[in-house]
Amino acid sequence: MTFDERKGMYYPTDDIIDQANVKEYEKRYQSSIENPESFWAEQAENLVWYKKWDKVLDDSDKPFYKWFQGGKINIVHNAIDRHLKTANRNKLAIIWEGENGDVTTFSYHALNREVSKFANVLKSMGVKKGDIVTIYMPQIPEQVFAMLACAKIGAVHSVVYGGFSHEALSERIRDAESRVVVTADGGYRRGKINDLKSIVNEAVVRCPTVEVVITVRRTRQEVYMESDRDYWYHDLESLPIASIKCETEETDANDMLFLLYTSGSTGKPKGMIHTHGGYSVYISTTHRLVFDIKPEDRFWCAADPGWITGHSYMVYAPLINGATIFMYEGAPNHPYPNRWWRMIEKYGINILYTSPTAIRGLMRYGSSWVTRHDLSSLRLLGSVGEPINPEAWRWYYSVVGNEKCPIMDTWWQTETGGFMITPLPIMPLKPGSASKPFFGIEAGVVDENHQPVKPGEEGALVIKNIWPGLAAGIYKDRDKFIETYWKKYEKEGWYLPGDSARIDEDGYIWVLGRSDDVIKVSGYRLGTSEIESALITHPSVVEAAVIPLPHNIKGNAIHAFVVLKDGYSASRELETELKNHVSSEMGPIAKPDEILFTVALPKTRSGKIMRRVLKARALGQDEGDLSTLEE
Ligand code: PRX
Repeated sequence: MTFDERKGMYYPTDDIIDQANVKEYEKRYQSSIENPESFWAEQAENLVWYKKWDKVLDDSDKPFYKWFQGGKINIVHNAIDRHLKTANRNKLAIIWEGENGDVTTFSYHALNREVSKFANVLKSMGVKKGDIVTIYMPQIPEQVFAMLACAKIGAVHSVVYGGFSHEALSERIRDAESRVVVTADGGYRRGKINDLKSIVNEAVVRCPTVEVVITVRRTRQEVYMESDRDYWYHDLESLPIASIKCETEETDANDMLFLLYTSGSTGKPKGMIHTHGGYSVYISTTHRLVFDIKPEDRFWCAADPGWITGHSYMVYAPLINGATIFMYEGAPNHPYPNRWWRMIEKYGINILYTSPTAIRGLMRYGSSWVTRHDLSSLRLLGSVGEPINPEAWRWYYSVVGNEKCPIMDTWWQTETGGFMITPLPIMPLKPGSASKPFFGIEAGVVDENHQPVKPGEEGALVIKNIWPGLAAGIYKDRDKFIETYWKKYEKEGWYLPGDSARIDEDGYIWVLGRSDDVIKVSGYRLGTSEIESALITHPSVVEAAVIPLPHNIKGNAIHAFVVLKDGYSASRELETELKNHVSSEMGPIAKPDEILFTVALPKTRSGKIMRRVLKARALGQDEGDLSTLEE
């Protein structure tokens, strides 16, 4: 890359451009948005279909769009089956390293064997097409097998992040009404065992639909197994029923592939629905073009499959594109802060895709942990989950990428399925900007009157058209989908992501962060209302309000304001107790950094908490218009 100081931009060198899968952006972008349906139909031709679609886009039930209507496809047929007929068969699909140093690899052939076995085990437990299986696992290959096994037989997976508490897990199992849960006896994290099975045991007590819990053995620690409900996976997989042959189910393009619960402004987490057809087309296209995927690439998406990044770009897209996935179980700094760099060197990773929080977290240990390793295999870098600050960008670029790897700062969401605003390797880069909309995506930044803002001004980010990765809806809640994403721009038919942004003179988009009551902590998405509800379940709390405040490493820290019930008084002990309470209700990621006790919360006359006022006050900023304040 070359740096133009005057413009503050980084330009790709000829070698990057020469090998890029996309050589030109502007013209191709224009034609893609003039005729998105033919653009996406062309992309869909890269996949194998049991039956081609009758209609590229069926918009008769807006905003529940149906892509590739009438088509028959299965994502696993694309991610595994088709590779078995090519030279990919013997190529590595997965390289996995456990935190404790265990290493396992699977070729596409072996992956097919493991997924087929897992699928037959699920079938033997009565799992059928359309059933929702909840997966609560550490980052081990079996987590990927379980996901793919569900998809293979047309069942739907709902992966719950292994850092969520039993409360959060049971809420998600209940909403999905899962009959079968897949877990493990634990996973390693920072040298300790994350006791997932005990959390499942506690969660399923409140889940009347759960009949079967399948447990994969990872740590061999002792766990409680309930007879007639709990089965060890290794027992089941040794039964004749777990044959290594399993037909992949022909699913409709618009059949559910998975549910993934995500936090919104209000209420409980929403189960976003993604389907076999549009989602496969969208993620494989974005991955191939943005990460410039070559058949020999070793791709490491250092996300957890419990989040959308893991679903789209750790598991499904790289496999569809026939790359080799690298997967690591544990903490980035265990046992030392060079763990990641050592693994990149050891396995010759070509592309690293991670979050600004992880970069900032590793940056604080200093560059020598990185530079002692040979990272010359790296060709491209990626960032996702929150805005990346220019300082972290530059460190990632110069220390990790040795000034030769373009950074793909990809903006997207659980709802969008895949990248929406992102550079391509051929584009000049501006640190901190996610650059431009991907092909087929029309993005804009608008003011209160829905008019485009002037360059440099802040406004609401909107997406003005429809794309195949767009979620098909929220599980069991049609109205919420309409209300959350489409109501505000009903007239225009635009999608509302809930982020604020700026657009500059060159058309580069700078995403600033959430403009609603969602908090991004270390890139994890949490709802202020969920944290507040967790606080209120403590006997001492009568009211609570949660706001994000800037944090050096995590991006945002959680600050909670709490009003205590009569008879309780503020103390250090109570503060600690409340923090731990939230952690056990929701999971350690939601633990507030700070709890402030207060006698009242600023509210509007209609009773809405004015978080904006709390935030301004905490930051010592102007509190703005207070005319609607009740007292
Ligand atoms: O605020 C944006 C932020 O993450 C939100 C979506 O969170 P989630 O659904 O959990 O998906 C995260 C992984 C795709 C967005 O509304 N976000 C994501 N990527 C970026 C980002 N903010 C700025 N820059 C990004 N590259």
